[in-house]
Amino acid sequence: MSAIHPRSFPARGATRESIFDAMQTLRAHDVKWRDGRVFSLVFHAGAETREIAQRAYDLFFAENGLNPTAFPSLRKFETDVVAMVASLLGGDGAIVGNMTSGGTESILVAVKAARDYFRKLHPEIKTPEMIAPVTAHPAFDKAAHYFDVKLVKTPVTADFRADPEATRAALTPNTILLVGSAPQYAHGVVDPLRELARIAREKNILMHVDACVGGMMLPFVRQLGYAIPDFDFAVPGVTSLSVDLHKYGYAAKGASVILYRPRALRRAMMYATTEWPGGIYASPTMLGTRPGGAIAAAWAVLNYLGADGYLHIANVVMKTVELLRAGIAQIDDVKILGNPDMSVMALASDTLDIYQVGDELTARGWHLDRQQFPPSLHLTVNYAHAQSAEQFLYALQDAVNAAKKMSARKLMDNVLVNVANRAARVLPAAWVSELTQRASTALGGGAGGGGRSAALYGMIGTLPNRGDLHELVLDLVEGFTTPQ
Ligand SMILES: Cc1ncc(COP(=O)(O)O)c(C=O)c1O
Repeated sequence: MSAIHPRSFPARGATRESIFDAMQTLRAHDVKWRDGRVFSLVFHAGAETREIAQRAYDLFFAENGLNPTAFPSLRKFETDVVAMVASLLGGDGAIVGNMTSGGTESILVAVKAARDYFRKLHPEIKTPEMIAPVTAHPAFDKAAHYFDVKLVKTPVTADFRADPEATRAALTPNTILLVGSAPQYAHGVVDPLRELARIAREKNILMHVDACVGGMMLPFVRQLGYAIPDFDFAVPGVTSLSVDLHKYGYAAKGASVILYRPRALRRAMMYATTEWPGGIYASPTMLGTRPGGAIAAAWAVLNYLGADGYLHIANVVMKTVELLRAGIAQIDDVKILGNPDMSVMALASDTLDIYQVGDELTARGWHLDRQQFPPSLHLTVNYAHAQSAEQFLYALQDAVNAAKKMSARKLMDNVLVNVANRAARVLPAAWVSELTQRASTALGGGAGGGGRSAALYGMIGTLPNRGDLHELVLDLVEGFTTPQ
């Protein structure tokens, strides 16, 4: 470990070498995404595309998108990016939008815009509501929390898609916005957006499509011949749409686009104050200072790859998905949930503790996020996984075998607990504990999933109150950003 461990503000500057040495040392413990062993968080389309993004980012590293008159370059990049993305997503020239820092910001501003648009149009609605399926991204919960819009969640159907009937049943006179995803994150399926948008039109309310994950992928997957349901502005009734460039757009982190139809809805997103001694202040989205690097890198990558580049990448990704799906179908005890529409999917098991499988994969150097309701592991397949998919299938088979052994042990543990409980009725307590300890050791006990996610999720399952869990999670978040 490096010599640099600041606990207070450094009295003197450090050398370049010591700083970069420390950073290299610290990143040694990070997940390894370059070799396709991470199925979330990072989207990697190869060294060349990354270099384009990095060079562009570096060139505009210091520039600030807050004031478009100071940097006409950034203004052009942003308007170009918005126009390019809108034309890809069924825009007919009437679509307007802005760049934001990511999917969460795009969703936050979409909800804020809907609220303020409706405030003006229908001031009699004092407690606005939006309806979203339970699978909608937590950014909608966050938006509801920040902007005081009530979020009404609806169940999904057996294939994990939003249920239009449930949406209809949840409508009230206060409903201002419906939400659907293309695709939703957890299981990678596209919601029935035409049906949802029809309800929105019927009721004269707004409809947001969260295409943060799919916006830069689905148009190309469709071109490749896969059956992709309508998801964009081609659907009448869709009034806003979010699409992330730092996901399947392979741009630098900090780049998303929020699009609107009609124009007045975007206007409701914006903020201006004319009363500040520092001058007239206005900004379109949530951020004040907007990093020029992220805007420039997105412009550069979209132009560098072009439609043919994205089509090629989508083809590689979908071939990888097919290989993975076929391979997973060959492995007993695991399955893909539902029928994902593109390259995002959930791996589950009817027979094993899937978190145990996840722990075994982690132990073998693979990083998959854990999901719940039902328990599953998450895979976002991108270009980087073409090189690692076969290896992953071997590792998965291995992990399943190991988890099977573990679940046999768990069964024995349950038998032991039963035996011990019965014995406790007739034997002194000390004898019982001694006997169970010995039996457990004889069975190879103690090696279980202690400290791993299977244990954590097992513990969560036993908490009597999800409110406790909420506080526990906030404790963790606080802990992560508090020096130890
Ligand atoms: C469907 C969906 N929407 C929104 C987001 C939020 O995006 P970000 O993490 O860029 O804020 C995500 C992130 O994974 C997502 O999967």
